[in-house]
Amino acid sequence: MSRNAEDLATFIRARAGAEPPAYGMVLGSGLGHIAETVDGVAIDYADLPGFPHAGVSGHNPKLVIGDLEGTRVAIFGGRAHYYESGRGDAMRLPLEVLKALGGEQLILTNAAGSMHPDLNPGDLMLLSDHINFSGLNPLIGEATDARFVPMTEAHDPALRAAIKAAAEAEGIPLIEGVYAWYSGPSFETPAEIRAIRTLGADAVGMSTVPEVILARFLGLRVAAISTITNKAAGLSDEQISHEHTKAMAPLGAAKLERILRRMLRG
Ligand code: HPA
Repeated sequence: MSRNAEDLATFIRARAGAEPPAYGMVLGSGLGHIAETVDGVAIDYADLPGFPHAGVSGHNPKLVIGDLEGTRVAIFGGRAHYYESGRGDAMRLPLEVLKALGGEQLILTNAAGSMHPDLNPGDLMLLSDHINFSGLNPLIGEATDARFVPMTEAHDPALRAAIKAAAEAEGIPLIEGVYAWYSGPSFETPAEIRAIRTLGADAVGMSTVPEVILARFLGLRVAAISTITNKAAGLSDEQISHEHTKAMAPLGAAKLERILRRMLRG
């Protein structure tokens, strides 16, 4: 782990206390509300040297650490995407900091388009697995043998089971499916959507996969949930846009928040 991550963890502990977070969470577009309900300390990314200048509207670039439903969490409100900088490892430092704080589990959330007939805007999908359709990798350039990360059970079975149990307890349907990472920032063409649907993907988005790879590299247990904001390109008459993503995300966000809160209550 980089020196910088240890230094930042020391700085964060001085502001927020030393207790390790039971969960780290990364919030996707339009999914930031839960961070506002944490009883704790919010630190602007701008005060954390090396953290991304998360510049995508719909994100709130703050690290919030504190109590949520009696559990200590560290919520990363801003996410850096590959398409902002051309760097696949844009989230490496924040995840290293989570690890340095003593975090062991990570929940990722995102907004995604759906290729699955039963997944419509406002629905949630738990990632059973993913396809790195971009072909990019955040570990390119990593010089140690630790770069050869096994990805067979990258999406942690126990964490997924806990999320599924929480969804069931809340009476919220939660289909499991495969997420494909498309680099963005342009949306996909209908032909690309047909291609990745044929390859076995159920949803598509521009994030999450590099973070899953980095999490496994760092030894964090990880699970991810998509909020479906639209049918993927060519599968409906709806215009796909970032405005539409932000407008639709809150539909699923309320359900997502209930599931996460239930999981944290245990
Ligand atoms: N494609 C890629 N990313 C997305 C989509 C989509 O259709 N919807 C929300 N994020």
